[in-house]
Amino acid sequence: MTIIVTGAAGFIGSNFVLNWLNKEEENVVSLDNLTYAGNLDNLASLSEDKRHFFIKGDIGDSNLILSTLKKYKPTAIINFAAESHVDRSISAPDTFIETNILGTYKLLQNTCSYWEELTEKPKKDFRFIHISTDEVYGDLGKDARPFTEENRYIPNSPYSASKASSDHLVRAWHQTYNLPVVTTNCSNNYGSFQFPEKLIPLCIINAINDRPLPLYGDGKQIRDWLYVDDHCDAIRAALKGGKIGETYNIGGNTEKTNIQVVELVCELLDNLKPRIDKISYAQQISFVKDRQGHDRRYAIDSSKIQNELGWQPEETFESGMVKTVKWYLEHEEWVKNIISGDYKKWIDNHYS
Ligand code: NAD
Ligand code: TYD
Repeated sequence: MTIIVTGAAGFIGSNFVLNWLNKEEENVVSLDNLTYAGNLDNLASLSEDKRHFFIKGDIGDSNLILSTLKKYKPTAIINFAAESHVDRSISAPDTFIETNILGTYKLLQNTCSYWEELTEKPKKDFRFIHISTDEVYGDLGKDARPFTEENRYIPNSPYSASKASSDHLVRAWHQTYNLPVVTTNCSNNYGSFQFPEKLIPLCIINAINDRPLPLYGDGKQIRDWLYVDDHCDAIRAALKGGKIGETYNIGGNTEKTNIQVVELVCELLDNLKPRIDKISYAQQISFVKDRQGHDRRYAIDSSKIQNELGWQPEETFESGMVKTVKWYLEHEEWVKNIISGDYKKWIDNHYS
């Protein structure tokens, strides 16, 4: 028995593969075309694991996808592969349309032709799990209730619009061709292996390298933070018990302003790795130009997955953040390998 995980060398994908091999029996085929965000170091601990196989490839490559499906005969595909950074989607949307929309379409088409040829039992058991985001629901008003699965899709950024499109394609492949799909929409994840262009790892790494901690606009935008391993458990629950054709919202029940998040990063670093001058890292916080079309608030109502599938997050924001900050401090080599070359170019251009 094998599952295929796409985008497996990225942040959530790699955490999912490690979580899966730790808790489940089936083999994993990790497929990733290793964009700037894909990093084989994230899967390095599996180099001796006979249940893990890595394939470098694009979800949009029909020949590769079909031959991989035929070779490994997976019971499920978990689709994490995507362009994921909102700021990059604003400055260069092309790859977001290419991967998130066209790539998902190709993956669905090829999965469907594989699935249609299966015999009765494997056909019935097969699942296509599509990983999406709360950003498809758009900007949540200050006093509005957290997003449920019934909220309208009102995406505002090229990233969220491309993810919304992919969710619609996944739904259509179920409604039209009966492909057994389940979609999950989660809030902002944090934890180990996150590429340091995203707020939390960016601030940890900037802080200890004596660089500014950039907060967009007034820093009062709100996100609902979810510890990545809790998210991985929720996806396993959706794979096992999720109803075909349904969507499940996954959140951490942890609404924080960006200022609160960065202040917590500073407080943890002040304890774990104090500055030489003993002044708090908080003095490195710097308010910079706001993101275009910046959504003020996202928050998820996870009651459906909690009530129907018995999942709930185990980490509090404080406990998850302690683990996260410690992880970055203990993985200097991982960080060093990333913060050169292309990464430096992005940071210099974006924050100049
Ligand atoms: P990430 O950018 O860290 O990783 C994405 C991975 O996909 C990378 O390894 C990249 O190489 C790979 N990839 C990109 N294009 C590909 C292609 N055409 N073919 C094969 N592989 C390709 O992203 P992430 O944060 O791990 O997010 C994973 C998924 O979860 C995405 O679909 C994202 O939209 C969704 N999501 C993420 C968050 C979050 O907070 N990180 C929140 C909600 C939803
Ligand atoms: P990010 O980690 O990029 O996730 P998303 O945009 O998908 O929510 O950003 C989280 C929040 O932090 C978001 O409101 C934008 C803000 N932010 C900053 O204030 N400064 C930064 O340098 C970055 C990267 C993000």
